[in-house]
Amino acid sequence: MHERAAAEPMSDRDDRVLNPSVRPEDAQIERSLRPRRLAEYIGQERVKGSLDIFIRAAKARGEPLDHVLLYGPPGLGKTTLSTIIAAEMGVNLRITSGPAIERQGDLVSILTNLKAGDVLFIDEIHRLNRVVEEVLYSAMEDFAVDIVLGKGPSARTMRINLPKFTMVGATTRLALLTGPLRDRFGAVLRLDFYELAAMEEIVSRSAAVLDVPISPEGASALAARARGTPRVANRLLKRVRDYAEVRGEGAITPALAAAALDMLDIDHLGLDEVDRRVLRTLVDKFEGGPVGIDTLAAAISEETDTIMDVYEPYLIQLGFLQRTPRGRVATRGAYDHLGVVPPVARPAQPTLFADDEQ
Ligand code: ADE
Repeated sequence: MHERAAAEPMSDRDDRVLNPSVRPEDAQIERSLRPRRLAEYIGQERVKGSLDIFIRAAKARGEPLDHVLLYGPPGLGKTTLSTIIAAEMGVNLRITSGPAIERQGDLVSILTNLKAGDVLFIDEIHRLNRVVEEVLYSAMEDFAVDIVLGKGPSARTMRINLPKFTMVGATTRLALLTGPLRDRFGAVLRLDFYELAAMEEIVSRSAAVLDVPISPEGASALAARARGTPRVANRLLKRVRDYAEVRGEGAITPALAAAALDMLDIDHLGLDEVDRRVLRTLVDKFEGGPVGIDTLAAAISEETDTIMDVYEPYLIQLGFLQRTPRGRVATRGAYDHLGVVPPVARPAQPTLFADDEQ
């Protein structure tokens, strides 16, 4: 199996420990911590169950696996699952990403170099440009691409047949995928934030791989603040290990994990300074909302995409933020978490014409 690391480009200033985007320095350690087979993969039982059936059925028929689309917030294991799919099918894996494929020719060259059954993983598939995406339609459906030779009146098209490959697409934004592309995936699987029990198991497993002594209670304390995201948990584990080696006796206990995470300004729910800034801004500057996402992003000097991909999903999961058609709204839970008294409920507007539908 050959594989290339898919390190997303990161802006220099976004070095928050809780940002689940891949960083170049994480790539190596991430690979060493990554489960290689489905049986080793902890959590996401629904997705694992579906994949197990697809893979067994395809193998029993001696066919390549149908195309799979994985979606959900960053850091939950989309790339890991693509490596597992390839390993379970016993085929090669080619990893690339939407923004990395700039021209049709780039994609045609990747596709024509695949072997029958190979897995092609395209991360951030929603960022493929439309012209490139069109090549994928026939590649995925008919295992063929049409290329244009020459220019003007003498131009001809030539059809190139491709090996039957498996496309695994990953996205944090299912809604940004075009209908035709989405329709070409035989299975569309959603990854959710991990349950606490799964996070505890992941932390304990990673600590064992890294040879870091940790008590079950220590693993639990760390898991509780890792926002249901294994990539964040693994990153926190490294930071807490440093702290344990310098300030403690090397072992991670609950008290030590709490002290280290407090020092990183990560609160008991796993929120950091930026998460709290999102909530504070909503509450203090916009009276709890609703406020448009672009306005909110500008008010805290963050990119809209970063807020939507990284911060919002977890704040929504905690029930602190709601997406409404009129904008983002802070909930009662957000006020409570910030220790701010919510405004008194505004009295309902008097209805002048009781029969009017408003
Ligand atoms: N490391 C990161 N994600 C994991 C998972 N889901 N299972 C086991 N180890 C992991």
